[in-house]
Amino acid sequence: MAASTILTVCVLCAATLRTGFGLHTVSAIFGEAIDIPCGRSQDKLDGLLFGKWKYEQPDGMAVFVATRSAVKNKTSFDNVTEYNGRLELWENYTLSISNARITDEKRFVCMLITEENVFEEPTLVKVFKPPSKPEIINQPTFMETGKLNKVGDCVANDSYPDANITWYRNSQVLLPVDGVVSIDWSKERNSTSGLHNIRSSLQYLSNKNDIDAHFSCVVTYYMPNGMTIMESDPVVFDIYYPTEKVTIHVQSPKKTIKEGDNITLKCIGNGNPPPEEFLFYLPGQEEGIRSSSAYLISDIKRNATGDYKCSLLNKVMIASTMVTVHYLDLSLTPTGDITKQIGDSLSVSCIPSASKNVSVTWMKNQKILSQPTFTNLQYRDSGVYECETSLLEVDGLRRKKTLRLTVEGKPRIKLSKKTNADGKSKTILYEVDGFPKPEVQCVSLGNGVYLNKTEETTLSNGRYTAKLIISPEENVTIICSAENKLGRESHSLNISAISVPEPVEPNNKSGESNDHAKLIVGIVVGLLLAALVAGLAYWIYVKRTGSASKHVGKELGNTEENKKLEENNHKSEA
Ligand SMILES: *[C@@H]1O[C@H](CO)[C@@H](O)[C@H](O)[C@H]1NC(C)=O
Ligand SMILES: *[C@@H]1O[C@H](CO)[C@@H](O)[C@H](O)[C@H]1NC(C)=O
Ligand SMILES: *[C@@H]1O[C@H](CO)[C@@H](O)[C@H](O)[C@H]1NC(C)=O
Ligand SMILES: *[C@@H]1O[C@H](CO)[C@@H](O)[C@H](O)[C@H]1NC(C)=O
Ligand SMILES: *[C@@H]1O[C@H](CO)[C@@H](O)[C@H](O)[C@H]1NC(C)=O
Ligand SMILES: *[C@@H]1O[C@H](CO)[C@@H](O)[C@H](O)[C@H]1NC(C)=O
Ligand SMILES: *[C@@H]1O[C@H](CO)[C@@H](O)[C@H](O)[C@H]1NC(C)=O
Ligand SMILES: *[C@@H]1O[C@H](CO)[C@@H](O)[C@H](O)[C@H]1NC(C)=O
Repeated sequence: MAASTILTVCVLCAATLRTGFGLHTVSAIFGEAIDIPCGRSQDKLDGLLFGKWKYEQPDGMAVFVATRSAVKNKTSFDNVTEYNGRLELWENYTLSISNARITDEKRFVCMLITEENVFEEPTLVKVFKPPSKPEIINQPTFMETGKLNKVGDCVANDSYPDANITWYRNSQVLLPVDGVVSIDWSKERNSTSGLHNIRSSLQYLSNKNDIDAHFSCVVTYYMPNGMTIMESDPVVFDIYYPTEKVTIHVQSPKKTIKEGDNITLKCIGNGNPPPEEFLFYLPGQEEGIRSSSAYLISDIKRNATGDYKCSLLNKVMIASTMVTVHYLDLSLTPTGDITKQIGDSLSVSCIPSASKNVSVTWMKNQKILSQPTFTNLQYRDSGVYECETSLLEVDGLRRKKTLRLTVEGKPRIKLSKKTNADGKSKTILYEVDGFPKPEVQCVSLGNGVYLNKTEETTLSNGRYTAKLIISPEENVTIICSAENKLGRESHSLNISAISVPEPVEPNNKSGESNDHAKLIVGIVVGLLLAALVAGLAYWIYVKRTGSASKHVGKELGNTEENKKLEENNHKSEA
């Protein structure tokens, strides 16, 4: 059997040489089936006995793999390890090899044997295997500008035949340029599988334009239908570049800085990565303070106003910023609780001191007034004075000082009298001023009885008035005294009995007791002397007996009468 095969081979070898037809080629994809048509139609062949497939070894030896008998319509396969179970030989003598391998790249020959002749049709089998998707490995974490940086190794494995790798930056091919782009590539072939591994290393001179640049590699390889490409995932690198400019700015709670604020000076270099440390220069200081990019100044003072600078540690690239610390002080003299005597003078001043020109506002009892001046203090000058100022530019910077002024004075009292229209009662009116508010008591000299008075009404700041209504049956002398802690003043008034009309007075108001006394003295000196003697005698008598109630009780009458009297009194005044 073996001997006959070898013999046949020799015969066929000779046949191959003789024919010399053009070579057929079959391309197949690795792992898929290879269909190799016989290349010659057997229909036209008379007396076809059988068809046979063989391949040629590198050394020129032929190896038979399959035979198909034309007569018996039967196929048989030779025991060739490489092809066991992988072959099919169709009726049209097409040979199918499943699961294509690189080692299937051979010259296969279809032999059609007739009774008279042997026809041979050689076919070259080509196998193609696409590489793995190219991948960029050994990537650096960053690239520095101005240096040749390794971008990575692009690998595409297991291709057949071999492949090429091209590098791209933003879809533009990178070609080797001295000192700018350097590409090294290598190929290796796995001797068992016959597949190629391709690797290409890129070194690249980066600059700031490479921020966000996409680098990729593309593998170009052959497939049955021609050249094909496959691209890697793009990679983007962090581009490191040196600082070219330093800037400083101030972080403060508000737009404007005021005394007591905490501020942070922030220094920034525009390099990548940004510098982490700087030198900070405070106003007027030559020596820089080494700090992180944030320099905190807490509770800033007004004397911290000035130029703040920062630089890189090597003292180049200095940035500077002006910081103005706003402040506002207010000095009020005098301040607090001040007590002065009526008629005194008092000078007050409210002086602001601020980082900008400011004006002050005076308020008294919540009302705005102009700067007060006191050359002659009156009771009405008493009150709460506030001096206020604010820096409009600086949110919330306002100051207020308070002066609580009290004007004190000894009591002064004036008395006046008139006969009421009903002719049955007389009204005694007093006006008193003084501070603290004086206590007023009126006593009827005749009987030493304290006289009830109406509620005091306030005339103005520190001036009060009240009335006494009496119906004296005899001439009486009334003494009213006003007293506060600073002193006491008394005045007396002679009131004639209700039966006697009062002497004409200049007017109701003129109650100046001294004038009145003079007037009375001038008119009725004798009478009054007598009355005094009588009054005195009577007073002594009353003091002794203590029975004055019958006169006094009539002086005011009951409350209803009082009201009527009051009304009448108002009418008469009107
Ligand atoms: C040969 O036969 C096979 C199976 O019937 C078929 O797939 C193939 O196309 C045929 N080839 C030619 C060249 O006719
Ligand atoms: C690879 O490049 C070489 C040289 O540039 C070239 O000869 C070859 O044909 C290329 N192969 C592929 C698959 O592109
Ligand atoms: C300033 O910072 C200190 C602590 O660092 C804090 O106690 C203080 O309240 C801050 N002052 C202001 C005005 O925020
Ligand atoms: C600024 O004033 C504060 C007190 O308010 C003082 O402690 C500090 O030394 C002063 N700084 C300068 C630079 O004058
Ligand atoms: C503040 O006032 C002074 C004099 O009253 C004036 O010379 C100065 O220019 C003013 N400054 C501002 C910022 O208005
Ligand atoms: C004065 O008024 C009080 C009560 O208002 C009364 O009790 C008293 O008797 C009155 N005195 C005279 C002298 O009328
Ligand atoms: C009141 O009358 C007496 C005599 O009766 C007289 O001495 C005295 O000066 C009079 N007083 C006044 C204030 O008029
Ligand atoms: C009371 O005074 C009047 C004058 O005001 C006088 O005319 C009269 O005599 C006096 N009466 C007595 C009792 O003194």
